Amino acid sequence: AALTPADQRLRGRRAIVTSGPTREPLDPVRFLSNQSSGRQGHAIAAALAELGAAVTLVTGPVTLADPPGVDTRHVETAEEMLAACRAALPADIAVCAAAVSDWRAAAPAPGKLKKDADATPPRLELVANPDILATLAGLPADRRPALVVGFAAETDHLLEHARAKLARKGCDWIIANQVGPGTDTFGGPDNTVHLIDAADMESWPTAAKTEIARRLARRIADHLETR
Ligand code: CTP
Ligand code: CA
Repeated sequence: AALTPADQRLRGRRAIVTSGPTREPLDPVRFLSNQSSGRQGHAIAAALAELGAAVTLVTGPVTLADPPGVDTRHVETAEEMLAACRAALPADIAVCAAAVSDWRAAAPAPGKLKKDADATPPRLELVANPDILATLAGLPADRRPALVVGFAAETDHLLEHARAKLARKGCDWIIANQVGPGTDTFGGPDNTVHLIDAADMESWPTAAKTEIARRLARRIADHLETR
């Protein structure tokens, strides 16, 4: 069915969404990464596009298909992800759903690390990766997206940690979700989240990641309309 204008509430808006894990090389055949499936981030990109936004999805390696109607950029490392986000500016909306590796190898080996029979295992020296969410949230006012949204996946003290993250990153909203034992958020179809801003906290009922994404896209449209 043809979309009515009411369905296209984000027409004319530009959005950047990060999704999936990053992959940080240790040598040409090994890497440091994490369990992110990209399901939540990809669903958010699709939901924003459904409301008419021009969406650039910057994703690490995932097994998901590129969402229809979304300009999808494939990257591996955190540094590549940040560069692709910068290239997608300007934007009205940024949603950082990627599980960015906090660290990368200080100096990836140029050749495959070899297992010498009696040698001690290699020591990995790590350095910090750039923080993409904090970078986007900290851009000068003329380049900063009007609404910058981050995620906080926590195993304990969920709301406390999420509030601290909101302040530390300088973003506008945090979507907080419980992960770890007793949850199957990583890779699973459902999510239980809380929307946190500087003033309020709102708990959403457990729902499919696609449903959470649509709800978030509607909330983003509400917010931009009432600013
Ligand atoms: N994030 C990011 N770039 C990073 C690390 C995190 O953009 N290098 C974003 C994530 O996409 C997410 C938010 O920051 O939206 C929170 O990520 P998280 O890993 O929970 O926070 P950290 O600050 O890395 O803290 P920690 O891992 O110690 O909980
Ligand atoms: Ca982290």
